[in-house]
Amino acid sequence: MWRVKSLDQILATAEKKSLHRSLGPVQLTMLGIGAVIGTGIFVLTATAAQKAGPGMMVSFIIAGAVCAVAALCYSELASMVPVAGSAYTYSYAVMGELVAWLVGWALILEYALGASAVAVGWSGHMVGLLDNLGMHLPHALTVGPKVVIGNFLEGGEVGGFINLPAVIITALVTILLIVGTKESATANAVLVAIKVAALTLFVAVTLPMISGHADHFKPFVPRGWGNPFDHTGTGVLGAAASIFFAYVGFDAVSTAAEETRNPQRNVPIGLIASLLICTIFYLLAAGGAIGSYGAQPLAGPDGVAYAAGSPELASACTAMGAHTPLVCSKEALAYVMREIGHPFLGQLIALAATVALPSVVLMMMYGQTRIFFVMARDGLLPPVLSTVHPRFKTPWIITLVTGVVVAVFAAFLPVGQLADYSNSGTLFAFAAVSLGVMILRFTDKTRARPFKTPAVFVIAPLSIIGCLVLFVSLDGKSQGLFVVWTLIGLVFYFTYGFWRSNVRRGVDESEPLVDGPGGTPL
Ligand code: ALA
Repeated sequence: MWRVKSLDQILATAEKKSLHRSLGPVQLTMLGIGAVIGTGIFVLTATAAQKAGPGMMVSFIIAGAVCAVAALCYSELASMVPVAGSAYTYSYAVMGELVAWLVGWALILEYALGASAVAVGWSGHMVGLLDNLGMHLPHALTVGPKVVIGNFLEGGEVGGFINLPAVIITALVTILLIVGTKESATANAVLVAIKVAALTLFVAVTLPMISGHADHFKPFVPRGWGNPFDHTGTGVLGAAASIFFAYVGFDAVSTAAEETRNPQRNVPIGLIASLLICTIFYLLAAGGAIGSYGAQPLAGPDGVAYAAGSPELASACTAMGAHTPLVCSKEALAYVMREIGHPFLGQLIALAATVALPSVVLMMMYGQTRIFFVMARDGLLPPVLSTVHPRFKTPWIITLVTGVVVAVFAAFLPVGQLADYSNSGTLFAFAAVSLGVMILRFTDKTRARPFKTPAVFVIAPLSIIGCLVLFVSLDGKSQGLFVVWTLIGLVFYFTYGFWRSNVRRGVDESEPLVDGPGGTPL
């Protein structure tokens, strides 16, 4: 289980059995922004406000800083090993099969549950948009039922049944992915432009209002800085652990390396450029929301703030009727815009999010399918999953499976919880990549590194520590789910992947596999 897959073998496999190389640096940056800006800023700003109040601005900085150091580590590995599979592939080459499996397994949380979270965020905007047009969908069809399973799963609202809009958008995105990457990437570019325009509009209107509202920033940290060991996921650190989701997705760029022209140069550009642009937008948008409308947490009659995303908070919000605090909204930015006297602009922002968020669902599901694809190609998952569609040239079976998983979670769980679950997997993967980049500096000194992480022995440990701090700052439920998920993964590995692994069986995958229809080599 400690067997590694040699880098030369990985690169040879990618050459022989590869997807089309069609993406350039601008498309990659667009891909990055397309995957990054989404539910995090448009929706989870409300969750962050409930956890930290105006202090969420610091949370955005903390989460962004952890992502920046992780992205620098990702870039080195992505430029050295420009193949599909992201953190999973790098771990296989560096730390062996078991670690790679665990990383790949954690990436399912990141990408599949991340896609579910964004689908639910989309649903919130769609429902809000229609509501404001006088079309009210039945409550039971817009949120999941109230469920509690042990200490690691809690979701839905009283009176909820299924989040139908979230299921529908997932189904549509699945079809788009099966039809082909190229078309999807082009559509993505248009949607990115819409998203950036919406954020620019929000910032332009709200930011000038800060000057008259210094009081909105007081108290700045109403729920403290956070205690990583109380498992409540509150305070500035708790909000950082949740809002981390807003930055997730930049690694989708490295996942697309196998489909990139000159990946050695273009992947690092795509990663770093997209992260930088997003960080600037987030800080401006969070500052604008606080300055123009306020972002204090909502507390119960006893003066204690409600837990973010809890049914109690939902009930308190419902009881307040119209004009609730920011923390009650399922479409934070659009809501602020409406409430500060610009209902039309608010609708525009909701419309932009409704049109553009599917591109985030698309990128996360895309990342998931490519990781599954590589894991199946390595023999750790059933090989039938890596079947490429004869006409569309996409891994269609795996795309379908991914679609079903994403839809089920989106149907029943709330956005904040999904985002936190997703973060737990992402943080694990980021830490593994950061460790891997240091190990490779010793074990593979001579290999060309088109991009070298600067001061790697400072940056990579910082990244690992940052991921650890954010992980322990998540709430207890998310940490519990991560542990349960990892245990299931271990069982699966030792009953299937361990035995079927191509590396174990000595299968040389650099030979073209003959499993296309009619026996054609893929
Ligand atoms: N970062 C992406 C979002 O916020 C996943 O929606």
